[in-house]
Amino acid sequence: MTTSAVIVNLAGVVTPDPARPWVVDCFENAAIALDGGRVAWLGRAVDLPARWRDRERVDGKGGWASPGFVDGHTHLLFGGDRSQEFNRRLHGASYAQIAAEGGGIRETVRATRQASLEELVALGEERLDKLRRKGVVHLEAKTGYGLSLEAELRLLEAYGELKRRGWSLDVTLMPAHDVPEEFQGDPAGYARVVAEAWQPELVRRHPGVAGFCDVFVEKGVFTAEQGRMVLQSGKALGLVPRIHADEFGSTGGAELAAELGAASADHLMFASDRGIRAMAQAGVTATLLPATTLFLGMRDWAPARKMIEAGCRVALASDFNPGSCACLDPLLILRLGCLQLGMTFEEALTAMTLHPARSLGRADLGHLHPGALGPVLIWQVKHPLDLVYWMGEAFVPEIVV
Ligand code: NIG
Ligand code: FE
Repeated sequence: MTTSAVIVNLAGVVTPDPARPWVVDCFENAAIALDGGRVAWLGRAVDLPARWRDRERVDGKGGWASPGFVDGHTHLLFGGDRSQEFNRRLHGASYAQIAAEGGGIRETVRATRQASLEELVALGEERLDKLRRKGVVHLEAKTGYGLSLEAELRLLEAYGELKRRGWSLDVTLMPAHDVPEEFQGDPAGYARVVAEAWQPELVRRHPGVAGFCDVFVEKGVFTAEQGRMVLQSGKALGLVPRIHADEFGSTGGAELAAELGAASADHLMFASDRGIRAMAQAGVTATLLPATTLFLGMRDWAPARKMIEAGCRVALASDFNPGSCACLDPLLILRLGCLQLGMTFEEALTAMTLHPARSLGRADLGHLHPGALGPVLIWQVKHPLDLVYWMGEAFVPEIVV
């Protein structure tokens, strides 16, 4: 059965235009017709075609409609938290120092290995629910806090269960998120095991759950060459590469993403000019994670302006994780895009919706033009700019499915 309805009494609709790069359309006194969960018509209320006039009406209460946010980079499932480590950083210890002492990601690996499937699913639902209430309607979520075949399988199984329960997710395999204790000092050996044995086994045991693969290419973690091996093995299994690249230094991650035709390269605070040009040419989405820069107390904001000028499709994402970004707040990411990365409101909105959706291969998410999948967010604001301008306000959208 298809259901249809028209959202009326809207001050306006703001949405990226999927047909025109970086263009955001603004319709004042607007209406949106929904049919079978998809946008069927969008425009000024006075222009609403006759066939929609007798449909069920949803009252927009004078608010502004926007597409839901798409978060293209999260580490949704992990056990425990790292608030103590966070406090150590406030007292002066560095992220790298804590990791070198066996804390950091490895601390979370210990807690995640102890979590049961049921606990992981419950944690996932709690976090997804928080994000949903704040307007995130679809997200990418990675494994990578198991770092043993058994624990990575459990994480993947938990993601499969969350998808079965109806959460809108794209899953990424990331056993090469760090070098586990068992492979201490042998990143090359570990990358080989992930590429040759674990990734194929993960895909074989839970077919269809993951669509992407990822690796942390960084000084002291995996080299570009090791990253290439992991991502090429993923590609051979039908997974699309994404990559954690150039977060603490320039190690050729952006270039590697372009070479492999990755869907996205993420972080990129230290991406080289050559890497930026290569990403633009290869159509790799540059996914920037400004709340991580903030949470790590760094000043090295990713060069968003340079990327936009080079022709990159830029996305903004949370990087939600317990160590470098304990943040489930899409408005903070939007605001940092404007206030620290120098993006205009229109660019930042596009980077929170259309561009991450594209990096996930979802043409029907991240905008409200005909064919787009709901839900629609309705914000009680005078103008969408208020979402950034009133920068401390906890605006909560109404979510119309
Ligand atoms: O994306 N860069 C690697 N991984 C995470 C941080 C993981 C952690 O500290 O637990 C990130 O920032
Ligand atoms: Fe990350």
